[in-house]
Amino acid sequence: MESNKKIPSPVAKRLALYHRCVETLLRAGKEMVSSKELGDRLSIKSSQIRKDLSYFGGFGKRGTGYNLHSLKDALENIMGINRTWNIGVVGAGNIGTALANYEGLLKDGYKVVALFDKNEKKVGKVVGTRRVPIYHVNELCEKIKELSIEIGVIAVPAEYAQSVADKLTNCAEIKGLVNFAPVKIYTHHVELEDVDISVSFKSLTFKIWGGFLGRK
Ligand code: NAI
Repeated sequence: MESNKKIPSPVAKRLALYHRCVETLLRAGKEMVSSKELGDRLSIKSSQIRKDLSYFGGFGKRGTGYNLHSLKDALENIMGINRTWNIGVVGAGNIGTALANYEGLLKDGYKVVALFDKNEKKVGKVVGTRRVPIYHVNELCEKIKELSIEIGVIAVPAEYAQSVADKLTNCAEIKGLVNFAPVKIYTHHVELEDVDISVSFKSLTFKIWGGFLGRK
């Protein structure tokens, strides 16, 4: 099996899509799936799926396809979602509170255990039915250690995103960041994923618009 370090990012994204599809098929009562069926459902070539899964030592059988339970277990092992990851979100605004309230994250083992903010009026309050506490951002490293937080989320306005990223990566326990701010941030020694919904909209309108340079 290859180390995750050598796995290209697009493969990691496809693995997450395979996992979501496998869960849907299992809920529908299926036991087996072929790479062709997975490919048809996800609009990905079956040869690509076989190649992606072969990174980890193929676990399908030619002709019979993949056992869905084994495939789910294998994908969860590969992606580290057979455990709980504690998450701290900096910025207890629209995005931060939405993440704390999002049951789908919890279902996959991503547990928002703390929010951090610089606004004194928000500090000390709790968010949602799970009553996720909001701490002052000055307490960041202390709470990250206390609550075993390994993933930090940046949900502050763009102009503060880099300084928040620096503060988060200065906390020894942080292994990775998800950045919601619409700005490029730089990190050393931790993994980084950017999420920007407006990039998806721009990509979509570019496709709808046809990318036609001559249009008036
Ligand atoms: P918001 O204004 O509702 O909340 C931001 C929070 O961050 C506030 O509570 C504020 O007090 C806090 N904050 C500001 N500077 C801080 C600092 N240095 N340390 C700690 N807390 C600080 O903002 P909203 O709507 O939640 O958006 C958050 C970020 O996410 C923005 O950068 C926004 O552009 C971005 N965004 C991203 C989307 C995406 O798809 N990635 C979608 C919508 C917004």
